[in-house]
Amino acid sequence: TDIRVGADLIRRRKGGTPIVCLTAYTYPIARLLDPHVDLLLVGDSVAMVVHGHETTLGASLEMMIAHGQAVMRGSARACVVVDMPAGSYEGSAVQALASARRIVGETGCQAVKLEGGVDMARQIAAIVAADIPVMGHIGLQPQSVKKDGGYKIKGRTDETVAALIADALAVEKAGAFSVVIEGTIETVAADITRRIAIPTIGIGASDDCDGQILVVDDMVGLTVDRVPKFVKQYADLRSVITHAAERYASEVRDRVFPGPAHVFSKTNGGDDA
Ligand code: KIV
Ligand code: NA
Repeated sequence: TDIRVGADLIRRRKGGTPIVCLTAYTYPIARLLDPHVDLLLVGDSVAMVVHGHETTLGASLEMMIAHGQAVMRGSARACVVVDMPAGSYEGSAVQALASARRIVGETGCQAVKLEGGVDMARQIAAIVAADIPVMGHIGLQPQSVKKDGGYKIKGRTDETVAALIADALAVEKAGAFSVVIEGTIETVAADITRRIAIPTIGIGASDDCDGQILVVDDMVGLTVDRVPKFVKQYADLRSVITHAAERYASEVRDRVFPGPAHVFSKTNGGDDA
């Protein structure tokens, strides 16, 4: 029996207990998060957070697949969604389907996510028609950061509110099982959540959304570059790692490490490291 949370189970959670989502990029983090979340997103934020690129435009299909495989090895029950990187789907529905097939085929993930609303409806519909569940992503779309001239909050003007609602309706109509709403005025994200039947997952959006997501490195205080205002930091791993590195460095320099317990003699231990 499949105990994994599928995309259809996420869809049916609309309006109930909020859906708990986090990003994950590696095997150990997937192992640690999997028992606590409904959904793990292998976000293209991996390009920035793990690989040090300036924007998510640094992500490639190969990068997403490698991290998708690592997360799948560490996840037993969460719904695992892998982001489609910039340049892998915008061109046409045919291109989008080929890329989605590669991601699912090579990772075994439950679904893919792509950015865009009205403009990407054909891509979403084509992937869904091939029985691959799709998560949408509207509002602030990091893959459009150059076009938008920065990371700008959406929904401040009447025109942009109308465009956001049109995007949400288009993503729903195209068959997405859920949609991320990022960096959007709170009342607009709440309104969209009421207007569509698929669950909305908020990030910098609203507590009225059907679920929430954060970038795991931001959430645990590991991100070394700028963190968006909407992040809440639940741990401070930067200082944990800094203190460990400081202690290790001074113990090596003082010849305190390695101690007797960390070296081998002919009479103790056995053959295994
Ligand atoms: O890439 C990512 O981490 C994302 C989430 C922030 C939704 O798309
Ligand atoms: Na993303």
